[in-house]
Amino acid sequence: VNSEKKQMLEAHELLQKFYHHLLVNTKEGQNALEYLVDRGFTLDSIEKFQIGYSLPSWDFVVKLLQKRGFSLSLMEKAGLIIQKENSDSYFDRFRNRIMFPIQNSKGETIAFAGRSIEKEDQPKYLNSPETELFNKSNVLYNFFRAKSFIKKQQQAILFEGFADVISADKAELYNGIATMGTSLTEQHVQLIRRMTDTIIICYDSDFAGTEAAYRAANMLTDHHCQIRIARMPEGFDPDEYIKKYGSEKFRQEIIAGSLTFMAFKMEYHRLGKKLQNEGEKLRYIEKIIEEITNLDKAVERDHYLRQLADEFSISLDALKQQQQQMYYAKK
Ligand code: GTP
Ligand code: MN
Ligand code: MN
Ligand code: MN
Ligand code: MN
Repeated sequence: VNSEKKQMLEAHELLQKFYHHLLVNTKEGQNALEYLVDRGFTLDSIEKFQIGYSLPSWDFVVKLLQKRGFSLSLMEKAGLIIQKENSDSYFDRFRNRIMFPIQNSKGETIAFAGRSIEKEDQPKYLNSPETELFNKSNVLYNFFRAKSFIKKQQQAILFEGFADVISADKAELYNGIATMGTSLTEQHVQLIRRMTDTIIICYDSDFAGTEAAYRAANMLTDHHCQIRIARMPEGFDPDEYIKKYGSEKFRQEIIAGSLTFMAFKMEYHRLGKKLQNEGEKLRYIEKIIEEITNLDKAVERDHYLRQLADEFSISLDALKQQQQQMYYAKK
């Protein structure tokens, strides 16, 4: 490691401790701590994930770093402070936010995500910029803690957000990881594939999360992963679900009850469709037959065709005929 990188890492470590101390031990952090506790974060989680709080000051961090002998232009490159335009002075990047330290695969803190406490403080999450240490397209939140569990259990759970991973951990699911506001990349997949090929996608059950889950599932399947997709009641994310229904129910119903990709597709293609409508129903059935036709395994194709036949009271023969027509039309 060159000395610039080493100093950037040291500064992250220092700020992580400082932010955490502010949150748990000081009057300044009290409001932020109450916000977290209200949301269901436990003190154990706050400790384990070294969650912190940044002061609403413009220069507290600048002064601290300076006092500790760090070069401010280097700290700017590390993403911790920002240079004022046409000036040689700097100000703090993170102000009045809940601080989530982000670690690389070795467990070194390389970035922060700061969540706003007040609704009017936008954006909701402010991340460190891309730096020499941090590239969000090859970092998965919590990977360094989760990797041994992922390997042992031969399964990873992929979430959307920080709070989801932390709530899952509270529910004794230690194999949770998350992308950070980006879609899943090739590099993320390579990282996971070193530990396992089995992934449960557990994204938010809202429109954006459902679309993202569909894309992630396709990508992982292309990379020869075994996937399942966990679904919650409309609008819930994993963190909200665990808060409302508890850890036990999350593990038993949402994770253990996660869907195969095909079952998810059946749900997905029906979103927004009125299946009482004859035309929409037929289009839905055709779409599903097409999906079934794309399955590799004959046993699976048979299984889902029967399910479709049962649900819509269509003869299995008719479905098979149509499937063959599609199959030959494609060739
Ligand atoms: P909470 O409201 O704290 O529970 O966050 P969430 O994780 O439920 O957020 P959401 O489902 O809206 O987004 C999922 C993830 O996308 C978050 O955990 C962040 O990593 C990222 N994200 C959300 N909003 C923003 C934003 O405004 N800016 C950036 N850079 N990332 C965001
Ligand atoms: Mn502590
Ligand atoms: Mn979301
Ligand atoms: Mn969410
Ligand atoms: Mn949430």
